[in-house]
Amino acid sequence: MWSFAQLAVAFAFVAPLAVAASSAARDPCAAVAGKDFVLPADALSCLKSFPFNETLRQNVLTNNVARVFDFFTFEFYYLDSPAPFQESTANIRAELARINTTHYETDYDFSWDLYLTITQLNDGHTRWFPSCYNAYQNLAPAPIVSLEIDGVQGVYIVPDLVEFIHLLGTDYTDLIKIDWERLAGAKVVSIEGQDPYDYVDFVAKTVSGNYLDHGVRVNSVFSSYRLVDADYSQRFGDFAGPTGVAQNSITMEVIVNGSNKAEVVTVPYIANFAGVAFTDRESFWVNNCAANNETNGVDFKNPTPGPTPGPLQKRRQPMAKIIDLSTSNAFGLPPQFEPTLPVQGDNEGIMKAYILPGNETGVLFIGSFEGDFDTFQTDIVTAFSIFKNASVSQLIIDLTDNGGGFVCLGQFLHAYLAGTNFGYPGFQSTNRANPLAQKIVASDIKLGLNSDFSFYTADNWAFLNGTQMPSDFDYMVPDVPIVINGRADATSQRFHDTCELTYAVPMPATPQFDLTKVAIVSNGNCASTCAMFSTLMFERHHTKVAVFGGKPGENVEYKGMAGNQVLEWTDIDSEIKTANLEDDPLAPVDLLVSGNFRHNWRTAWSFLDETLPIAYVSELPQFRFPYTLDTYNNPQNLWLFAEQELFGRK
Ligand SMILES: *[C@@H]1O[C@H](CO)[C@@H](O)[C@H](O)[C@H]1NC(C)=O
Ligand SMILES: *[C@@H]1O[C@H](CO)[C@@H](O)[C@H](O)[C@H]1NC(C)=O
Ligand SMILES: *[C@@H]1O[C@H](CO)[C@@H](O)[C@H](O)[C@H]1NC(C)=O
Ligand SMILES: *[C@@H]1O[C@H](CO)[C@@H](O)[C@H](O)[C@H]1NC(C)=O
Ligand SMILES: *[C@@H]1O[C@H](CO)[C@@H](O)[C@H](O)[C@H]1NC(C)=O
Ligand SMILES: *[C@@H]1O[C@H](CO)[C@@H](O)[C@H](O)[C@H]1NC(C)=O
Ligand SMILES: *[C@@H]1O[C@H](CO)[C@@H](O)[C@H](O)[C@H]1NC(C)=O
Repeated sequence: MWSFAQLAVAFAFVAPLAVAASSAARDPCAAVAGKDFVLPADALSCLKSFPFNETLRQNVLTNNVARVFDFFTFEFYYLDSPAPFQESTANIRAELARINTTHYETDYDFSWDLYLTITQLNDGHTRWFPSCYNAYQNLAPAPIVSLEIDGVQGVYIVPDLVEFIHLLGTDYTDLIKIDWERLAGAKVVSIEGQDPYDYVDFVAKTVSGNYLDHGVRVNSVFSSYRLVDADYSQRFGDFAGPTGVAQNSITMEVIVNGSNKAEVVTVPYIANFAGVAFTDRESFWVNNCAANNETNGVDFKNPTPGPTPGPLQKRRQPMAKIIDLSTSNAFGLPPQFEPTLPVQGDNEGIMKAYILPGNETGVLFIGSFEGDFDTFQTDIVTAFSIFKNASVSQLIIDLTDNGGGFVCLGQFLHAYLAGTNFGYPGFQSTNRANPLAQKIVASDIKLGLNSDFSFYTADNWAFLNGTQMPSDFDYMVPDVPIVINGRADATSQRFHDTCELTYAVPMPATPQFDLTKVAIVSNGNCASTCAMFSTLMFERHHTKVAVFGGKPGENVEYKGMAGNQVLEWTDIDSEIKTANLEDDPLAPVDLLVSGNFRHNWRTAWSFLDETLPIAYVSELPQFRFPYTLDTYNNPQNLWLFAEQELFGRK
């Protein structure tokens, strides 16, 4: 029996803790609020604090996602994805039905299942991004790379670990309770008990997404250099930097640099918050999870509301890009590994030009095809003027981690290199002629709309003879029946892009460069517009293409994700609303949660076989090189190596 005094003492110590613990239990979001870095388990407690809600499941799954899939050009290819893309096989409708009948405890469990299922279609254009549950990215202080050292390829923890990780600051490093600095350059013997390359394959299969080709996803698992906007950055890679907070730690067997003894280390993940600030559970939901004024589309026929009336919708540029969530909180490439050669021309754009020592070779590092549409074009013109003045005769185009961008900037660059005498610089294209798509085109014609309002109207396109289609031309009637994996589908009539209408600079008639003296280098993580551009250079001009990295003995395609134009959820929703079809029973409905279900809306048909989407044409690079200690994080060293290997020393 405790005396009253003992009890009083016990309570005096216990009570404040109990209050703190129970208020944290009541509001696990308050415990992580205001912090850039937290333990994944603590973030997960917040994310899992919202119970499963059938209304939200039906809103997202049945009334939105399932109907948007009707527009997805590649749906039936998934039933039996052709080799070597067979890993990207899925019965999409059966998966939706499974998610529709699964018992979930929390909203997170439902939404994350949908996130993973759609991510594993491996199409960066077709993704479900729930803002709420994509707000955190896990980061382990152990990004890995595949390096060739002394003639043998192996998996290593990045040798620049110390320089790189310290760029994240002490809020991050203070939470790592192990001696992580000694892992720099450690050789990885096994991960979770498996051969490291097998574990990399596992991450490529279950985490990475975005790229149909397995080999390209393998490179996405590794750390790599890239440009994010105008800045050099180092990507953690999908092993060390996966989206979400699913894992608390990773166990590896490593041999640290300087030792010859293997040891087991357990490396923690730390969750990095990249969402909208909040203070508690309620504000987390309102700021990150609930639909907001930008979640859904608008009717472009109505002038923008607001204090100053907005201009009428201007012709928008088609986009083909992936969304790499890891660019939202990008960390720099340690500055000592950035190029030391001077940048030629504009240093502010998404593209940087260099001239290698000896003045024979120019380099364009094109980090993406986004950014300012006209500035990209003027930057290219300036770069070529500088190259010409310096008598540069060879060109290396680095497309590492280029996630794509404006469709027409890819065609612009092709046309600028090849000259306009070459003819049409793009692909034949179609979109899917589902019943609602047919209604949209017909309704747009009736409403007298044009490309200022809609991507669906025919004046966005040209006939195959190059003449722009009139806006009232119905290119869905008749539709074109096709059969994919035994399933009847239908597309629109074929058309060309009309990018030449958007060029902001004078175009040369003849090639700027001897096209046999142009080489493309990348890690295969070259998506969308980037994939279309490199496919055009390869298929039409036999440009040399070199892919670095990958798993030894396993192929890597040079084009990562060769879909064509992508529509975000707001884009397709705006198409529907602008065509007055919001109430059509086939129309997807407004999301009640903040999220984006984007889809690949157009197919690019291969020049070599016009019955095949280029996405499903396997094209291997003529050159494959492993990364080395000198090149994995050092673009300039990589270009010097490529100059020697691809052009030879004179
Ligand atoms: C489920 O979500 C809907 C839409 O946000 C909301 O109106 C409803 O109250 C929620 N149901 C429960 C039980 O929380
Ligand atoms: C999900 O189940 C509901 C209720 O049975 C049904 O109305 C809806 O069509 C289903 N949705 C999907 C995508 O299977
Ligand atoms: C190991 O350390 C040595 C000496 O600092 C260094 O030269 C070498 O590049 C390191 N190896 C790796 C794989 O990081
Ligand atoms: C949505 O609301 C935010 C915050 O009030 C505002 O900054 C933004 O401009 C709004 N966006 C639109 C499209 O109205
Ligand atoms: C390369 O061009 C620069 C600038 O015109 C010049 O200073 C340099 O001497 C040239 N180098 C060679 C090897 O021709
Ligand atoms: C290249 O040389 C021409 C002729 O001298 C000059 O007009 C032009 O400005 C130079 N280009 C650049 C980018 O310096
Ligand atoms: C191109 O094709 C369209 C549709 O067949 C036709 O109307 C148009 O006259 C053609 N233009 C030229 C220049 O031949």
